[in-house]
Amino acid sequence: MKYCPNRDFLYLEPRDPVAHFKFDAHVARVFPDMIQRSVPGYAEIISLVGVLVAQYVQPKTFCYDLGCSLGAASLSIAQHIKQPGCRIVAVDSSTAMLKRCKEIIRDTRPNVPVDLLCADILNVEIRHASAVVLNFTLQFIERPHRVELLKHIYDGLSPGGILILSEKITFSDQRQAERFTRLHDAFKKAEGYSDLEISQKRTALEKVLFPESIEQHLGRLRLVGFSSCDVWFQCLNFMSILAMK
Ligand SMILES: C[S@@+](CC[C@H](N)C(=O)[O-])C[C@H]1O[C@@H](n2cnc3c(N)ncnc32)[C@H](O)[C@@H]1O
Repeated sequence: MKYCPNRDFLYLEPRDPVAHFKFDAHVARVFPDMIQRSVPGYAEIISLVGVLVAQYVQPKTFCYDLGCSLGAASLSIAQHIKQPGCRIVAVDSSTAMLKRCKEIIRDTRPNVPVDLLCADILNVEIRHASAVVLNFTLQFIERPHRVELLKHIYDGLSPGGILILSEKITFSDQRQAERFTRLHDAFKKAEGYSDLEISQKRTALEKVLFPESIEQHLGRLRLVGFSSCDVWFQCLNFMSILAMK
């Protein structure tokens, strides 16, 4: 295959041992290719995040993109919202990801101001928000902290505000879980990843990405107070929920 500097070849060669996955400079360089070829429906989710947020955003409020990576969701929001006086706050704890995000935002020059914040999302103040996006980020937060984070988000949202929560999911039925894992592997193979790449990446993610079922996500969102929670997107073992305050 032709040399392509931004293509994800990170797990092409055998690694022993396979270290835990980190959002470092290597990942930041190939991230758009990696996520596009690993998450079925990612591009559709990104473009629709902006469309959905635009329906609910209120003038002079903040939109938070928590675990923003290279800012794809922030840019989609900036492209779609028309309400005056809004700001987007894009947060990530990885300096490497945020450095690349800063370059992309600078080159894209969005119409809505995007404030970048290098911080742990568990410690970020959420205030006067009409939309919060957790696009494939909650899965990296240790389970015991998930309720407190969602409660914190709920408290920071204005009435009528929304949370968009996208996650890799698992299934309580073991056979269904195995079926979707197989189908997801088939997706990644069709995207050009080898068996070795798929298996090494799985090992790398095993101790840092903890997926839950749709029922667990919906139950927790209702527990913290969200009044309506709908799955608006699912593709294989990936889904997105729209939750309203
Ligand atoms: C799968 S990526 C998110 C993709 C991104 N939202 C998008 O739509 O392209 C997960 C991101 O969450 C960030 N992250 C993980 N845990 C975090 C935490 N506790 N605080 C802030 N960022 C975190 C990682 O650095 C990484 O950039």
